[in-house]
Amino acid sequence: MQSDDLLEYAKRARDRAYAPYSGFTVGAAVDVGEGVVVIGCNVENASYGLSICAERVALCSAIAQGHARIFAIAIAGPESAQTAPCGACRQFIAEFDRRMPVTFTTAAGPVKTTLEELLPRSFGASDLSSVRPLPTK
Ligand code: THU
Repeated sequence: MQSDDLLEYAKRARDRAYAPYSGFTVGAAVDVGEGVVVIGCNVENASYGLSICAERVALCSAIAQGHARIFAIAIAGPESAQTAPCGACRQFIAEFDRRMPVTFTTAAGPVKTTLEELLPRSFGASDLSSVRPLPTK
């Protein structure tokens, strides 16, 4: 799927955002292949720290719906803002593909990049492989 098309899904998902505290509404869309797209939006909480970003909602939804692979993600925030994924979301995206194509909105238009550019030398499953887990009691 073209990144522009995926971004349109993210913009529609943004309308579902629950952001009564920040007013910063975000939608995300992930391409799971075969023309299928799974969306997410940010969901805030009165206990602010519990709020969850649109990207992680979309990725968790895709996994919960049984999609094994995620090919790309698009993120749409307020038209006046840059909505590059936050640090936590970058790490979350890396779990699925350390080079995933990422498109996000800015006031000057969409930016097309990759997770590798946003989070160079990311930490991932392969980095765990040299260490054996501690024995359990
Ligand atoms: N937010 C996202 O959903 N994704 C981003 O990439 C940046 C920030 C949300 C979190 C919070 O609900 C609001 O935007 C303001 O930080």
